Amino acid sequence: MENKFPESKLSENEQTILGVLYSVELNPKDSETNEYFIGEKRIKLNVEGILSVSKHRIGEDIDLLSSILETLLTKNLINISNKIYSLTEVGSKIGKKIKSKWFSEFYDKLLLRCAKSQAYAKFCELVYGENLVQFNVIDVQQLNMMLEKLELNSNDEVLDLGCGLGKITEYLADKTGASITGIDFSQKSIQYAKMNTKGSEKLRFEVQDINELNYPSNTFDAIIALDVLYWVDDLEPVIKTLKDILKPNGRMGIFYVQFQNQENLTEPLESENTKLAKFLDQNNYTYEVEDISQKAVEIWERKIAVGKDLRAQFLSEGNQDIIDTRVAGGLDVIKKFETKQQKRYFFYVKNK
Ligand SMILES: C[S@@+](CC[C@H](N)C(=O)[O-])C[C@H]1O[C@@H](n2cnc3c(N)ncnc32)[C@H](O)[C@@H]1O
Repeated sequence: MENKFPESKLSENEQTILGVLYSVELNPKDSETNEYFIGEKRIKLNVEGILSVSKHRIGEDIDLLSSILETLLTKNLINISNKIYSLTEVGSKIGKKIKSKWFSEFYDKLLLRCAKSQAYAKFCELVYGENLVQFNVIDVQQLNMMLEKLELNSNDEVLDLGCGLGKITEYLADKTGASITGIDFSQKSIQYAKMNTKGSEKLRFEVQDINELNYPSNTFDAIIALDVLYWVDDLEPVIKTLKDILKPNGRMGIFYVQFQNQENLTEPLESENTKLAKFLDQNNYTYEVEDISQKAVEIWERKIAVGKDLRAQFLSEGNQDIIDTRVAGGLDVIKKFETKQQKRYFFYVKNK
């Protein structure tokens, strides 16, 4: 029998630890040492390891952490073996929800600040060719390339997954006449999209989590995912759901990144070895794929150069952290492309 344990019955700290454990368990694991690889770090889920990844949320009191772990054990939300903790199935489900909540709140704050920033508007115009308050690595030329592939027309029903502030959704609807529904789990972004795009029957925005999409079968002629699907924890069921809600002969445009931890190991990054390709194959889709890594490097280089030029304006708005993280992130990403730890692809997918 399934053990139902709504997260509302858990204390804030208990929820936090489940969210932290879930986030750690998403990373690759060395089964011999029981260590998870998190970026450059290696973390074992013993009490000390859990403290190291949760102290920014619950503080450094190891006794407090031990008592939270004790309670979670009695509630069957975690297991322990040889002093190493792991989530039970129910614990993992709750941890997933907690992580999703943190992630959506992160975007709530960040995207709204971008939307209000004059400096960010200028940044978008210079980096992407037009200010659509993008938060991605897709310039207007690439958006138009996707439109050419998808051949959207005014009879099409389209779903834009993770639409953010909705200005790209509006751009695509204006260019094609298609009816587009933008969804995002960031409530504030959807609120912004509703208030800052032209009200029209052809443009709708809804708060939805990609992990729990709620549409009838055969609803959409096309689905687009602009820099979002690689953030989804469990892609397999999502690709299955997309198959169901996409009409026969429907198509998808997906901008996707494949990461891996080791340097100069190309095989896991090849398009046919990506998680996305694997699940598309399993679900009987056909697809064409284009390696757009070089273009991504160019866009990141542009972001870095423009970011440096506009830093004073960001600073005067109190938004320097937005541009500093973009620039630092850009340098890191470019290094990852150079050391073959990342590749970027555009997938044009057809439903059979
Ligand atoms: C990198 S931003 C891209 C935003 C927009 N598509 C663009 O290209 O500018 C990722 C977006 O996906 C949304 N997102 C991430 N995970 C999601 C999920 N599980 N369900 C719904 N939206 C999600 C975020 O809130 C954010 O708006």
